[in-house]
Amino acid sequence: MIQIASSDRVFILTGAGISAESGIPTFRGPGGLWRNHRVEEVASPIAWRRDPRFVWEFYSMRRRLAAAAKPNDGHIALAELEKRLQDRLFLCTQNVDSLHERAGAQRVIHMHGELFKSRCDSCDRPPFPDDRTYEPPAPVPCCECGGQIRPHICWFGEMPYRLDEIANALDRCSIFIAIGTSGVVEPAANFVAHTRGRARSYYVGPEEPANIAAFNECFSGKAGDLLPSLFQLE
Ligand code: APR
Repeated sequence: MIQIASSDRVFILTGAGISAESGIPTFRGPGGLWRNHRVEEVASPIAWRRDPRFVWEFYSMRRRLAAAAKPNDGHIALAELEKRLQDRLFLCTQNVDSLHERAGAQRVIHMHGELFKSRCDSCDRPPFPDDRTYEPPAPVPCCECGGQIRPHICWFGEMPYRLDEIANALDRCSIFIAIGTSGVVEPAANFVAHTRGRARSYYVGPEEPANIAAFNECFSGKAGDLLPSLFQLE
């Protein structure tokens, strides 16, 4: 169990593992997305410049998978925890699906972007809701400015979003919990080390992440099985 006192501020970081039980593939595990697709061909600015239609084919497939998925007990448990902790919970996800929100979470920080938003690759028009798929032979959608419309996703080599808010929450938290992330992608993999000495840190997942040494305690198992009964609030 993770004891949460009334004075505790909780930082939760989720990764692809929390959506695995909803049927959305992870990246590096068996059947993972990076087992069947090359990052440099679908998830980088160079890939976008080289073949935007191929990039849209990849994200259209991901939109279809995510739209068909349902939140699982892990997402629901975190939405319940948010209701009880309110602004003492900072829920940061590396995931681009909307399953935290569809489980009822109100304040989700998507540091790697959102699958169901698109934006222009040229002008500063804000990202906008977009659940359409763009697969060949459909053309790449264009903006009024003449730029091309791209997925609102943080690609490799790009800066993740809302890092200032994340750094502030890491400085203030007294409990840090990472759920379902392999701990190999920066800057998220280093968040736990940032809280050392100030927060109790926990990892939840079926396998040890690469940064396991930085955690105080590890709960081995699936998010959907463990999260519903993991938190004990004062
Ligand atoms: N419950 C909890 N964790 C699980 C479950 C489950 N049911 N199933 C798998 N996992 C764990 C795996 O053990 C693994 O450690 O989820 C983790 C998934 O790791 P990755 O596939 O590497 O996903 P993630 O860590 O979220 O990747 C980080 O890399 O490719 C980029 O931008 C992409 O946000 C992504 C980032």
